[in-house]
Amino acid sequence: MSRPATRFTIAALLAGFAATPLAASAAGGEVEVLHFWTRGAEAGAIGKLKETLRSEGHTWKEFAVADGGGGLAMVLLNSRVTSGNPPTAAQIKGVHIQEWAHTGRLSNIEDVARAEKWDTLLPKVVSETMKYQGYYVAAPLNVHRVNWLWINPQVLKKARAKVPTTWEEFFATADAIKQIGVTPLAYGGRSWLDLGTFESVAIGVGGAEFYKRAFIKLEPSALSSPQMEKTLQTFRRLKQYTVSNATSGDWVGATALLNAGQAGMLLMGDWAKAEMLAAGKKPGIDLLCVAAPGTADSFSFDIDSLAMFQVSPANKQAQRDLASDVMSKEFQISFNLTKGSIPVRLDISMERFDECAKRASADFKSSAKRGTLLPSLAHGMAQPSQIVAPMWEVISQFWNQDKMTAQDAMARLAAAARAPNTRAE
Ligand code: GAL
Repeated sequence: MSRPATRFTIAALLAGFAATPLAASAAGGEVEVLHFWTRGAEAGAIGKLKETLRSEGHTWKEFAVADGGGGLAMVLLNSRVTSGNPPTAAQIKGVHIQEWAHTGRLSNIEDVARAEKWDTLLPKVVSETMKYQGYYVAAPLNVHRVNWLWINPQVLKKARAKVPTTWEEFFATADAIKQIGVTPLAYGGRSWLDLGTFESVAIGVGGAEFYKRAFIKLEPSALSSPQMEKTLQTFRRLKQYTVSNATSGDWVGATALLNAGQAGMLLMGDWAKAEMLAAGKKPGIDLLCVAAPGTADSFSFDIDSLAMFQVSPANKQAQRDLASDVMSKEFQISFNLTKGSIPVRLDISMERFDECAKRASADFKSSAKRGTLLPSLAHGMAQPSQIVAPMWEVISQFWNQDKMTAQDAMARLAAAARAPNTRAE
């Protein structure tokens, strides 16, 4: 991958004289990235960054934490930072970027962003997420859509069922699939997946405005509303259609079941597409992608990004190169073709992408216009940790404990929403 021309300008500007980019990298710095992309296809996607940094003369180190969704990665990041040994960058997302920036540990990368005009290249929702008090502290990798329903068309055909667009249709299709002896819904069975699934059900049952009132504005009247009760009941109804009562071994296992036709449907963000592509499937043809029932007008988004920590002067240029590489057109294309997500830059053609990515890109734009671009609660885009963490717990317990009533769950969601909001502005 070639180094973007703008890098020359930045290197020269920063050095105060006309150093060439190669000269700037010749000294080579060290880059250490903490992330949680350890599964086959995801690991391959981040590997592209490693190749680029190495080709620029930097040393690449990874602190990869095996744990989808990133909960454990954040715990380990915390302990690294507290013990005075932060990585160069970490996969920190959404509201958590603000939380980290507020601690004063993040690095200001505004010089790179300005020189490369990130503000003009990124949708506002993305650039705002990457900034703290008006300056960039993180570089965005992609946009994932969370509210997808994936369908194996062969199973659907065998069951003589149709692609569902509402939750009632979903259950009719699930019943038909059950009758042919196939698991209707592949399910990951991890708490972050419980909340992600719940989120899609909430948007589908209550609509985008309800989702905003409940999970963005945290209105008590929405958190304890008939729509919330219906959302909880619909969510619980899914359980009888999943493998062995609840799980199929995290999202990779769940996606494998769909790929193999051992399950008919999967509710999952488009990181699942990475596993489909790796299995040689053509998304949109071999496996269908449709909006989760009732959510066609909405796009719940999950932006992956690398937040930059403060580093020694010797590694500062390597960090700048990292930020610049993440935003380069070449990386945005190669990474996202593998990862299942869509590029964040507005100036990238979707021509080389599959049907599902093309649809995601179009839906992202139309939802932005419509006001139905929804920050994902499950993926740290909507609320700070002290609110999301207890909500994860409530939803997982509700899924796992059949005795817990919808009323109990609503009361606990409302209590979680009252946690002191220390979100940094
Ligand atoms: C999400 C992340 C995705 C994907 C997924 C499964 O939180 O944003 O990029 O990695 O977890 O690990």
